[in-house]
Amino acid sequence: MSAATVPAAFEVYRFDPAHDKTPRYQRYTLDLSPHTVVLTALLRIRAEVDPSLTLRYSCRSAICGSCAMQINSKSRLACEAHVGPEMARHGRIVVEPMRNQPVLRDLVVDQTPFWQQYDRIEPHLKLDPARPMPEGKVTAMTPEEVNRFRETPRCIACAACYSACPAVEADAGFPGPMALAKLYRFVVDPRDQAHQDRLLRIQPNGLWLCLRCHLCTEACPKDVRPSERIRDLKEMAIAAEGATELGSRHAVGFKENIVDRGLLNEMRLVRQTYGTVGMLGQVGQGLKIVRKKPEIARKPARIADLEEVEKIYEALDRSPPKEEG
Ligand code: SF4
Ligand code: SF4
Ligand code: FES
Repeated sequence: MSAATVPAAFEVYRFDPAHDKTPRYQRYTLDLSPHTVVLTALLRIRAEVDPSLTLRYSCRSAICGSCAMQINSKSRLACEAHVGPEMARHGRIVVEPMRNQPVLRDLVVDQTPFWQQYDRIEPHLKLDPARPMPEGKVTAMTPEEVNRFRETPRCIACAACYSACPAVEADAGFPGPMALAKLYRFVVDPRDQAHQDRLLRIQPNGLWLCLRCHLCTEACPKDVRPSERIRDLKEMAIAAEGATELGSRHAVGFKENIVDRGLLNEMRLVRQTYGTVGMLGQVGQGLKIVRKKPEIARKPARIADLEEVEKIYEALDRSPPKEEG
């Protein structure tokens, strides 16, 4: 080991469906510069130790989106994750395939579900014949209009967000963060004649399954911020047709509770979300919760400084928080 290198301990997920009944983790130790990226280390393992190690990559420059994988339980591009910080933080580097997609072999997954969700949003411009492109121009938009979707073109379709998303894990019908970020791009594009229809269709088709955990935004190597675009879609959907889904009724009810009393009235929120008839279906679950936490059944008193809450909402309505970047 030279002074400039550190011993890096890898535990790499291995699974070959042709020979293995279950996956296993294989250990490799290499002396590497702390600046080495995980992809380079894996390629060295493949070249020098184990030619059967299977992985996907191409550009080695964080551009093609091919090398996304789980590195110490985070969805990352292997060509961007450095060995030194991973070893310093975790004492080892566990490398696994992306989540939420079936493993084909070792670190390679079948991305069909990811791309099927992308296809579902019809990711192409549907031009309005009444607003044709001006002759000789490449765009009919103002800089302000272009600025509304400045982040989404950065997406390299690496699926790191899809791998990190618990809503995808819970419900395969959820479109996923990348598809929704792309959908947002067409919803705000003034040239797209289907933008209103796209917005109305996504409300009952999974939009509200998003848990707002922001893990997709944390995982995204290109700062596309899918969770923020999903938030925008939710706000636009409510503005366009009101709260039509369980998720949107819950969101609107939550705000009404806080504006009215400064505290959440759980019983009222259940009624607002499910409606009076739908609430009957929740009685069994409700009784269990009330037995454990009886205070939930009581109507909360208004908080003393309710006008302060009102001021916060008024200020937010006047000027919504600005995003960085
Ligand atoms: S914020 Fe929504 S889309 Fe993003 S990871 Fe969480 S659940 Fe998935
Ligand atoms: S939004 Fe980000 S994480 Fe998701 S596919 Fe695009 S670049 Fe990758
Ligand atoms: S190899 Fe292209 S993004 Fe990593």
